[in-house]
Amino acid sequence: MKQEFHQPVLMEEAGKFLIQRLDGIYVDCTLGGGGHSAYILEHLSPEAFLIGLDADADAISHARERLSRFPNVYLRQAFYDQLEVVLVELGKYPVDGVLYDLGISSYQVDNPQKGFSYQAEGPLDMRFDPVQQKVTAADVVNRYPREELERVIREYGEERHWRAIAREIVEARQVRPFQTTGELVDVIRTVVGERFLVKTLSRVFQALRIEVNQELRRLSLALDAAFRMLREGGRLVVISYHSLEDRIVKRFLQDKQKECVCPPDLPRCVCDKVQEMKILTRKPIVPGPEEIRKNPRARSARMRVGEKVVPFSME
Ligand SMILES: C[S@@+](CC[C@H](N)C(=O)[O-])C[C@H]1O[C@@H](n2cnc3c(N)ncnc32)[C@H](O)[C@@H]1O
Repeated sequence: MKQEFHQPVLMEEAGKFLIQRLDGIYVDCTLGGGGHSAYILEHLSPEAFLIGLDADADAISHARERLSRFPNVYLRQAFYDQLEVVLVELGKYPVDGVLYDLGISSYQVDNPQKGFSYQAEGPLDMRFDPVQQKVTAADVVNRYPREELERVIREYGEERHWRAIAREIVEARQVRPFQTTGELVDVIRTVVGERFLVKTLSRVFQALRIEVNQELRRLSLALDAAFRMLREGGRLVVISYHSLEDRIVKRFLQDKQKECVCPPDLPRCVCDKVQEMKILTRKPIVPGPEEIRKNPRARSARMRVGEKVVPFSME
């Protein structure tokens, strides 16, 4: 049986929040296997338009085939912080909804050649777009100064053995530079032993992936871009899979919702801030037990939604 590219998470929930106008313009910034996009298109009228982006060329070609039955679709290989550039080029703005389903697809995790998984031997790569991106995970572990490596593992992995792991990596690379995921796994095993190995591996691999693809920096830029390109009443839907991403999304929405950012001791408001978005999910929406049973990779998902409450402006 052909393995599924990716099983979409919180698909119906995301679709329901996203779609308001059946003939609107929607953007799926993380196309992956096109599961969310197919669902959205099935619920739109033929006059609607969907733009799909993904940094990974394999995702684009897979989704192109999957979505070929829909006429009003435009797909482009691009990082999602390029959203504004793509929409302006196409003349398709303001938009009714923007979806971010962050992280990586099952296809990427399960493809050893991409180097995302500690469970399979492969090159230490982790680039979403190996043509445009120059820095691989091997470059990070082999070339970063120790302090930088410590920072990546501590900040992006939230791994408490960051110091010891960075030290062992630096020692090991002096003997022989790292080339494969398995070589990195072996060094981490010497630091934490078998008991905590899996959790530590997933944290260190996550940290390297975030660094290689500059995921958090791109996410902040992308949220700003999405907000700018939404029409008044348009919605931003974000599904995240770890606390670092979720924190950025939560703070972004909270800042946009605030009506005033004056220090609390000022007698009256002197800032020009107005409320720009309304948060539609007081608590993040998470998958139910049935979805998690069918798709264990959904278990860490958290969805947050905001609605733009100010007019679209290109200024
Ligand atoms: C969880 S998958 C999306 C799955 C998709 N919703 C589906 O239904 O199949 C995340 C996708 O986002 C892409 N991605 C991650 N970071 C990106 C970025 N900064 N710019 C563009 N695409 C990105 C990955 O390549 C991956 O295909």
